[in-house]
Amino acid sequence: MSTSSSRPRTRVGVWLIGARGSVATTVVAGCAAVTAGLHRPTGMVTETPPFTDCGLPPLSALVFGGHDTVDCPLPKRAEALTAAGVLPYGLSSAIASELAAADREIRPGGPVPGDTTRTPDQLTAAFAADIQDFVRRHDLTRAVVVNVASTEPAPTGTALPPSSLYAVAALRAGCSYVNFTPSAGLHHPELAHAAATSGLPYAGRDGKTGQTLLRSVLGPMFAQRALEVRAWSGTNLLGGGDGASLADPSAAAAKNAGKERVLADTLGTTPEGVVHIDDVPSLGDWKTAWDHIAFDGFLGTRMILQTTWQGCDSALAAPLVLDLARLTARAHETGLSGPLSELGFYFKDPVGDGPPGLAEQYAYLVAFAGRLRGGGESAVLAGPAVFAGPAGAAGAAGPAGSAGPAGKRSAGPTGLSDKGSGRDADTGTEGRRPSGPRGGPPADGKGERR
Ligand SMILES: NC(=O)c1ccc[n+]([C@@H]2O[C@H](COP(=O)([O-])OP(=O)(O)OC[C@H]3O[C@@H](n4cnc5c(N)ncnc54)[C@H](O)[C@@H]3O)[C@@H](O)[C@H]2O)c1
Repeated sequence: MSTSSSRPRTRVGVWLIGARGSVATTVVAGCAAVTAGLHRPTGMVTETPPFTDCGLPPLSALVFGGHDTVDCPLPKRAEALTAAGVLPYGLSSAIASELAAADREIRPGGPVPGDTTRTPDQLTAAFAADIQDFVRRHDLTRAVVVNVASTEPAPTGTALPPSSLYAVAALRAGCSYVNFTPSAGLHHPELAHAAATSGLPYAGRDGKTGQTLLRSVLGPMFAQRALEVRAWSGTNLLGGGDGASLADPSAAAAKNAGKERVLADTLGTTPEGVVHIDDVPSLGDWKTAWDHIAFDGFLGTRMILQTTWQGCDSALAAPLVLDLARLTARAHETGLSGPLSELGFYFKDPVGDGPPGLAEQYAYLVAFAGRLRGGGESAVLAGPAVFAGPAGAAGAAGPAGSAGPAGKRSAGPTGLSDKGSGRDADTGTEGRRPSGPRGGPPADGKGERR
């Protein structure tokens, strides 16, 4: 991403699964635009004062590559996003060399429909080899693998879906891992042991960019004001590749589970109502999300709040992906491993234990930045800021506490033969999802920072 004259001493890889998609293309284009000073880093939380001097890799240090199952060149993808109004006019020609450089680093992903020639283990080995080759050729200090591929249906049974094969490949290649999608990825129950023993930090799932972002603000408001939410219904209209993927009811169900979790976590109860996702191809990357909230006030007086969110999905997602790549790479550098619950601010369905409301999640993130600033062993020993459980349903951030080192770190490669370690099969890698408002850490300390 950087030119030779401005090349930082150490460079960090960002390996995007779904590298030719809308979000990935906006990430690459946006990083180049901000690095070149063509645009301000609007929407990038890591470019705000609390994150100064905490050792994050500069944007100019990021080198992009990835996997995809389609072969549309990245510059062409960027032109399509420009025509759709997602990228500003003139940008793709101004950053043509950066787009071309990232395009050269995209390798064929899999499995493609009808491809039965490679076993899951062969696919994983090939993905890991591609990532290792990328790291070696660019002499990268480390790399973070970020899943921004199409949403998959929730897996049934023990077979690993493609997102999980990529997650295993990331661990095998010694990379930290971020799942920006609702797909299983490292969250698959079969990978619980692999995640726990990898010695690598990971974060997810499903970027919180619009409707759920609002829910994580409004849910605590209702709870803190002791207003009783009777029903919370939502509808999303969107197009683009994401809209097409989510037209599959099983993929939409995976997405909606995260949207509904935030209500249960912040209200302490699951209100009546469902979320619909409708594919409207002509909307492209522009989403309209409508929420209708029926609630009771004093003496049972019935009231309604309606919200309408009209956003450009990729423009909302890309700065978060850049933030997550930088934060996760820095966490890896300081020796942190395991679920990065401090990054719950960014996700609908966060790993580990953390507060569910956005304000507390932000405080938790800023405290994390402070620990990253300390770096090295101090960050490892400090452990995560343990969420002590909500005082009320809306939750409150506990003080940064020490979970202490729990278990040994092992940087060994992760194989598909790794089996679950007694974690809850329904909840995947963390195995400690409370059903009501989110509680304190589990007695067994699973998922605590190692
Ligand atoms: N944009 C947002 O606000 C937002 C928020 C949260 C989550 N997400 C998630 O981010 C993901 C990407 O969204 P998008 O709008 O870029 O979608 P998109 O359809 O434009 O891009 C997805 C890309 O993934 C690729 N892909 C599909 N299967 C693959 C595989 N097996 N291996 C490698 N690549 C594969 C596709 O070819 C495509 O290029 C989706 O899962 C979406 O749900 C987006």
